[in-house]
Amino acid sequence: MKTNVKTLIAGNWKMYKTLAQAEKLADRLADRLADKLPADREVLLLPPFTALGAVAFSLKDANRFLLGAQNFYPAQEGAFTGEIAPFMLQDLGCTHALAGHSERRHVLGETDGLISRKVAFGLQAGLHMILCIGETLDQRKQGKVEHVLKGQLLLGLTEAKDAAVAPETLSIAYEPVWAIGTGEVAKPSDILSAHAVIRKTLEEMFLDCGGKIRILYGGSVKPDNAAAILCLDNVNGVLVGGASLQDDSFAAIAAAV
Ligand code: 13P
Repeated sequence: MKTNVKTLIAGNWKMYKTLAQAEKLADRLADRLADKLPADREVLLLPPFTALGAVAFSLKDANRFLLGAQNFYPAQEGAFTGEIAPFMLQDLGCTHALAGHSERRHVLGETDGLISRKVAFGLQAGLHMILCIGETLDQRKQGKVEHVLKGQLLLGLTEAKDAAVAPETLSIAYEPVWAIGTGEVAKPSDILSAHAVIRKTLEEMFLDCGGKIRILYGGSVKPDNAAAILCLDNVNGVLVGGASLQDDSFAAIAAAV
């Protein structure tokens, strides 16, 4: 199933890029993709917090480029040392944000409860939220992929479900933990079956609206595998890490057909 919304090509820059490097990358991407981005696609850049303002400036005239944050704290404002609120991100031009990335779950110890609060708070604040889910290698070997994905979806969306979500403002990213940063991309059959489980669960949760929620794949997406992934059923975009850090590789992924 392909949704009517545009395919999203998202670049998660993680904890990379100084200000000058970020500006250069955003400028080059806008330049490279000015006339090469297929009409049915949008590009989302997710720089580190420190580069958001500069990248927003670089993208101000770029068509179909969006800006997002990798994280935030789910509160309007307050005594939360070191944290950033959604409205501060929106102030810088962000329209999108991630929640539940595997590095935040596994390195920073974020729980499904906090992730659920972030998804609901971000949506209510007017951000388009991308909830990341995915199984570890051990869970895959134990045949628990479906169980893990359903569980992370149900728990991650618990609070959002009650908040009358417009499906266009929510995306899910399937990122198998074992495929992130390893060069080991999931097989098309693995992506197809995982995305089918996600679609079915979304339809159970949101009825007809579940069919309109974008499902992205992430995990070692590169220029040479992007086209084959993007044409799969229920794949409505990709979330790219390593290959989004260079303008030539990310532009090639964004333009891949
Ligand atoms: P890689 O593309 O480097 O595997 O990273 C994927 C990812 O974590 C995107 O959020």
